[in-house]
Amino acid sequence: MCGITGIVTRNSDNIGELLVKCSKKLTYRGYDSVGVAAVRNGIVDLRKDVGTIEEVNRLLGLSTMRGDRGIAQLRWATYGAPTKVNAQPHFGCEEVFYGAHNGNIHNYVEYKRELIETGHIVRSENDGELCVHAVDKYYEETGDMFESVRRSTHDLKGAYAYAVGRADEQEIYAVKMGSSLVAGIAGDATIVSSDLPSVLPLTNNVIYPADGEMLVLTPDDVKVFSIEDGERLDRHPQISTVDAGAAEKGGYPHFMLKEINEQPKVVQDVMGILEGPRNEEWLQLLEEASRHYIIACGSSYNASIVGTYYFNRLAGVPMIHAIGGQFQPMYGKTMDEGSLSVLVSQSGETKDILNVLNLVKTENYGKTLGILNVIGSTLMFQADSYIPMACGYEVSVPATKTYFSQSVIFAYLAAKLGERNGHIDSSEAKSFIKQLQNDLPRLTQVTIDRTGILAKNLARTMMNVKDLYCLGYGFTDGVAKEGALKIKEICYNHCEGMYSSEFKHGPLSIVTRDYPVIFVTTTEDSWMVINHINEVRARHGRTIVVGEYEETLQPYVANKLDYLVVPKSDALINPLLDVIPLQLLSYYISVDLGINPDLPRNLSKTLTVD
Ligand code: BG6
Repeated sequence: MCGITGIVTRNSDNIGELLVKCSKKLTYRGYDSVGVAAVRNGIVDLRKDVGTIEEVNRLLGLSTMRGDRGIAQLRWATYGAPTKVNAQPHFGCEEVFYGAHNGNIHNYVEYKRELIETGHIVRSENDGELCVHAVDKYYEETGDMFESVRRSTHDLKGAYAYAVGRADEQEIYAVKMGSSLVAGIAGDATIVSSDLPSVLPLTNNVIYPADGEMLVLTPDDVKVFSIEDGERLDRHPQISTVDAGAAEKGGYPHFMLKEINEQPKVVQDVMGILEGPRNEEWLQLLEEASRHYIIACGSSYNASIVGTYYFNRLAGVPMIHAIGGQFQPMYGKTMDEGSLSVLVSQSGETKDILNVLNLVKTENYGKTLGILNVIGSTLMFQADSYIPMACGYEVSVPATKTYFSQSVIFAYLAAKLGERNGHIDSSEAKSFIKQLQNDLPRLTQVTIDRTGILAKNLARTMMNVKDLYCLGYGFTDGVAKEGALKIKEICYNHCEGMYSSEFKHGPLSIVTRDYPVIFVTTTEDSWMVINHINEVRARHGRTIVVGEYEETLQPYVANKLDYLVVPKSDALINPLLDVIPLQLLSYYISVDLGINPDLPRNLSKTLTVD
């Protein structure tokens, strides 16, 4: 999943500087390679190489490139290895057409063959290059850039967005066909990019094109057209209130640590939204549905597992949770018009989730409720309704505050639904919601403050641990899986998240002396988890416990460091707090290993490819 940015200015000559400044905000989208094409006096200067934008800028002086328009691309490799030739932007046959894409061209192999057979000089193994050649091909036929861009989409199959230009034309053209795209109009410049954070350094006067639309950028305006018939569409820019500062580290060494520390405020902000006027709409969707599915990927999926336990306990409603890519083969035939699909995606652009959205829409399988963080995302525009997670932008690739917000949203909705369907009495629902509102922000802060030091010390003892398990039980099932994911994502160590009662049915064989197993507990289930801890200790494994301090658990940790104690709270608040020491543990191990937790290798924050 990549990030593209195109800028057209009236009279500045520092296009390299502008493109680097804006594109830097998209680093979480890809850091396998970076390139800039800058146009000056009808000549395209193209520089690109492997590495992050900082590294390639240092190497090739991207920010010194001159010109009044250009395109930049940050790559997360899919088609073609992360090499210099596969880096984007690309040229067409000659150094006249220049462009870059984000997304996937599914007919890559056949279309590349067709282009080569018709004499095109295709230089790379990257599917983005075919977008430029498609425009090049139609320009030969039409001699008209607008028509060439419009018709190029006839040849290109898949979900993508791209920006393209011609050396001797001032305009930059962009196409949205399934991947995210945002445009902006500043005083004397216009911009198109994959995401809002890279538009905000230039302007907050933004336009959200829809799929099947194309843009023509000139220095003063962004015009929107329908790709199908070329008709001009009336799209008025809107002022974005998203705070660009969210994309700054604010004095923290990493965005991840900053975002962990933002969780107390995230609870307050999301509770404000949940208690607001729109909650009736969301609760009605939940109430009216005959069957409920939660579909998500990565950390959003782990939060959805936690959500399933809250809906069971507080509302007596079974939530069928599934991973995005698994949903269709696993449940695709079990849906009907009475179903509700809760689609959970902080970015609102994850392709695996949008595929389920399209399935539900095309098959008329009921309603969709999006739980998302990025305002202006495809999921926001296309779901029947959506709940904003109110986290502000999450820049670090490993999710933290967004996972936390999702868990709070599920706990809240389950309590409200349970109150409405009579599964719990109103006083119990009200008291729990009061705790979410009044106690949880404070408890979250105390947990961060207390377990920060504990996690830092424990991390030092786990530097050389290459393989471990993180086990949960009941409400901490999803929490343990999230802890395991964090350790995999940013420490590059194998950590499997699993249900603790299942460990004895096979994986226990891996335990030898001092083999580390983390147990994530709640006061409600620790009596059961103690059995599972014993099974590991009997084989001299190292048991690490995360949870409230309980006398009964003390004897089960070899030394004090192996007990990450969270503050006392209600049994249903406890699972929300337990994730914080796991976030911090993975963060400190990662930093101690010299890894940048914000940009873990091979990953990307938002995957808009299959
Ligand atoms: C991955 C990210 O690409 O997508 C994870 O690296 C994230 O951090 C997952 O949890 C799902 O993303 P989203 O935006 O759909 O919640």
